[in-house]
Amino acid sequence: MKLFQTKSIAQLQGEANSDQGLRRSLTRLNLVSLGVGAIIGAGIFVLTGQAAAQYAGPAIVISFIISGLGCLFAGLCYAEFAAMIPIAGSAYTYAYATMGEFLAWVIGWDLILEYLFCAPTVAVGWSGHFVAFIKEFGLVIPPALTSAPLNFVNGHFVATGAILNLPAMVIIILLSALLYIGIKESATFNNLMVITKVSVLLAVIGFGAWYLLRHPGLAVKNWTPFIPPNTGVEGQFGWSGIWRGAGVIFFAYIGFDAVSTSAQEAKNPQKDMPVGILGSLAVCTVLFITISLVLTGMSKYTELNNAAPVVNALQAAGAPLALRFVVEIAAIAGLSSVILVMLMGQPRIFFSMANDGLLPAVFAKVHPRFHTPYVTTVVTGVAATIIGGILPLSLLGELVSIGTLFAFVIVCVAIPILRYKQPGLARPFRTPWVPLVPLLGAGLCFWQMKALPHDTWMRLIVWMAIGFVIYFGYSRRHSKLNAGQQ
Ligand code: ALA
Repeated sequence: MKLFQTKSIAQLQGEANSDQGLRRSLTRLNLVSLGVGAIIGAGIFVLTGQAAAQYAGPAIVISFIISGLGCLFAGLCYAEFAAMIPIAGSAYTYAYATMGEFLAWVIGWDLILEYLFCAPTVAVGWSGHFVAFIKEFGLVIPPALTSAPLNFVNGHFVATGAILNLPAMVIIILLSALLYIGIKESATFNNLMVITKVSVLLAVIGFGAWYLLRHPGLAVKNWTPFIPPNTGVEGQFGWSGIWRGAGVIFFAYIGFDAVSTSAQEAKNPQKDMPVGILGSLAVCTVLFITISLVLTGMSKYTELNNAAPVVNALQAAGAPLALRFVVEIAAIAGLSSVILVMLMGQPRIFFSMANDGLLPAVFAKVHPRFHTPYVTTVVTGVAATIIGGILPLSLLGELVSIGTLFAFVIVCVAIPILRYKQPGLARPFRTPWVPLVPLLGAGLCFWQMKALPHDTWMRLIVWMAIGFVIYFGYSRRHSKLNAGQQ
């Protein structure tokens, strides 16, 4: 059946070799840095504290290990695909090669939830940090211009009285402009942001470890009980709380897969994609587990339920003012690079979909001078700016997680399928222990999807239904594969 017609790997590899007008300028280090740039953000700076306070207590460390394992298994699968088919479409392309056009569309449409929606979600967080930061210098932006006009409460939109979130819109516009100008310039900016946030996180860990060694009694007190007993409500502490915590802090890990969307701009994708994907994931997993140990050691978990848990935990431990100040800067830098890499990923997926005819051909245009997919960069930037300016965070955050988890499940399932269908393909990187690792990856990611609230599932279903209408109304009829043009 044509719905499940697949694109041949040989043809995809041909497309990857031609790079389709994009410029190959990213080194191995750039790729690791893009991954770290996308991963470390609102998740670690904000969600860790909140998830510890509400769901898991100090056992948030276990949530991080569970979620990290799911990401590791999925990351190994991404690495195999990204090295074998180094195409900007990432999971969309992998599905096209293994499960056929319809499922490729489903994933392409689903990835919009990850990249396009993640950028404004983090931009709203960026806006909060930025506004608080400049306030320290006496600069105040009127509150009507720093939050969305709508909030989403109990399934309904309510007016907030604000006009729009201007800082969130401005940062998206600036970063989109940078991406328009060049991938190399964007990577350089990203490197700077990454150096800032990683060094500051290391300083926080250093201070925390020193403080806990000097106050061992406090650490033991705060870490006991390590798994607070369940309150009787599913998801509030105990093991169900650890799982709920894993589902929530999964957001912190999102981003390593974005590395694969830059495959056509990497100098040596076959070798460097696996290093970029797995290297960035490894660095961040170690940082996350250590930070969550330090945070819950310095502060009782019940005190971490606020908008700036890292800064507040440092304050409670009497950290020097300078350290708290640089943590604020690191959060702003960190969130900027997350927004940047997400705004980088989305246009490249649209670009691949347009090259296949599933989106209008204009989306496949590459800038003659800058060698960037400039049309899709502008489209993504405009959409993200509007969403970041007017929609509330409460509507978006978990939708991003469920969309990403869904993509991970599909990529994990696709690995054994392709191994079975085409065992002889050259695979520069091989996922170990197939099918065990991919199936564990798919299982862990699906389990985390299950831990997300019912209405997030409903939103995913509605989003997919819109996607089906577009596919059957437009894409299927314009598909180059369907028309036999490929
Ligand atoms: N992992 C990214 C963050 O935590 C999305 O902001």
